[in-house]
Amino acid sequence: MPHATSEGDLAINGGQKAVAAFEAEHSYRGPKVGLDEFLAIADTFGYSPEAQAKMRTLLSEEDESVNPQLTRYYNPRPSRVAMFEEKARQVFGSNYALGVNSGTSALMSAYVAAGVGPGTEVIVPAYTFYASAAAVVASKGIPVIAEINDTMTIDPVDVERKITPRTKAIVPVHMLGMAADMDAIMDIARRHNLMVIEDNAQACGGTFKGRYLGTIGDLGCFSLSSYKVIGAGEAGMVLTDDEWLYTRALSQHDTAACWRPDRYAVERRPGELFCGQNYRMSELEGAVNWVQMGRIEEQRVRYNANMRRIVAGLDTFARTRLRPSNDIEGDLGYCIILTAESKEAAGLLGPALAAEGLPAGARGVEGSRDWHIYSFWEQILEQKTATDEGCPFTCPYYEGPLPEYSVDMCAYSADLFDRAIFLRVNQWWTERDCDAVAAAVNKVCGVYG
Ligand SMILES: Cc1ncc(COP(=O)(O)O)c(C=O)c1O
Repeated sequence: MPHATSEGDLAINGGQKAVAAFEAEHSYRGPKVGLDEFLAIADTFGYSPEAQAKMRTLLSEEDESVNPQLTRYYNPRPSRVAMFEEKARQVFGSNYALGVNSGTSALMSAYVAAGVGPGTEVIVPAYTFYASAAAVVASKGIPVIAEINDTMTIDPVDVERKITPRTKAIVPVHMLGMAADMDAIMDIARRHNLMVIEDNAQACGGTFKGRYLGTIGDLGCFSLSSYKVIGAGEAGMVLTDDEWLYTRALSQHDTAACWRPDRYAVERRPGELFCGQNYRMSELEGAVNWVQMGRIEEQRVRYNANMRRIVAGLDTFARTRLRPSNDIEGDLGYCIILTAESKEAAGLLGPALAAEGLPAGARGVEGSRDWHIYSFWEQILEQKTATDEGCPFTCPYYEGPLPEYSVDMCAYSADLFDRAIFLRVNQWWTERDCDAVAAAVNKVCGVYG
């Protein structure tokens, strides 16, 4: 390599380049990730070996410079995550949509955005997946657990009872596709100047009085995973109409805050930049969820029609009743809940319905551990923390007293959960299937219910 003998020899000053070209053929182009990785994805999708062999033959003929960019940063192609967010904004009619990597990350982003932190309380229902409450603690807030009512969603009466000067937010959770009473919750929140953060992990596409769940409160959180209505892997989303809440959720979800209008600019307002996490959605999830967003409405229509046909075919039973709905037209409809008069009765009905060939079950008398009901959240009830000082339960900013956590604290909810019989509805059932399901329920409840 020639040594510079004078400034004029430097390439920057017009001298000869020290490296005119690289010998290696693929110095500047891929594939770092290519056909093999793509076929590994095809395999994950379950395509047969024969189909994959055909794809390999076909795609081998493609220019080798195919070089996927599976992150949003500096992507030469339109970012699939950005496309997913745009589609979500259109579908839900929200000003802002933020793709994240799980429902829990969506909750964390929303809680932090809303100001949940040391010294604050957040009211969550006794019946929800544990993540709704765990994310409060992880955000350094204190979860206050409220009863559910017969609708199996948060009880507005108990919510109002549990408000303190420290309450920051209420978290209605739309369990199993069923809307919480959003009129009552919004009314309470506005009167007490509280944030409403909807946990809509389980009801993507459900509505309440014609409005999509997740768009009624200040922030809506979604899980988009294989176990949920929409999604196929591990992803989530936050919706909001409020620019500031979106900005703060963005900062929490990506501590590098890369997608602010100007990435490295100083903060536009105190509270915009802080040390958050990395919950970014990958381009693979973005692509899948972009397509999935387009399936929400058709899915809701199929589920809801089947659920309502079954419900319309049910008799009235002596001791078992249908869970009352806050809005049956908006219920997503993938689950019908019957409530027995006792957990012993539920323990008879659940297996009897399953024996008739229905996808039904109940916890019954010997209910196993289940993190959908607060009484098994010992991380919270026993204030377990990752480090010994016990933050946030011992936080000096918390002007307590702490809620009296115990397995009996929401006894009505625990009992209701034990008495519930869950019947999963299939969106692809035909009308005859639905009628057969209703007849099977009538048969069993005619004897036991
Ligand atoms: C009500 C509820 N909230 C939050 C979550 C968390 O979602 P994820 O598993 O995507 O983090 C779930 C998932 O099961 C849920 O059901």
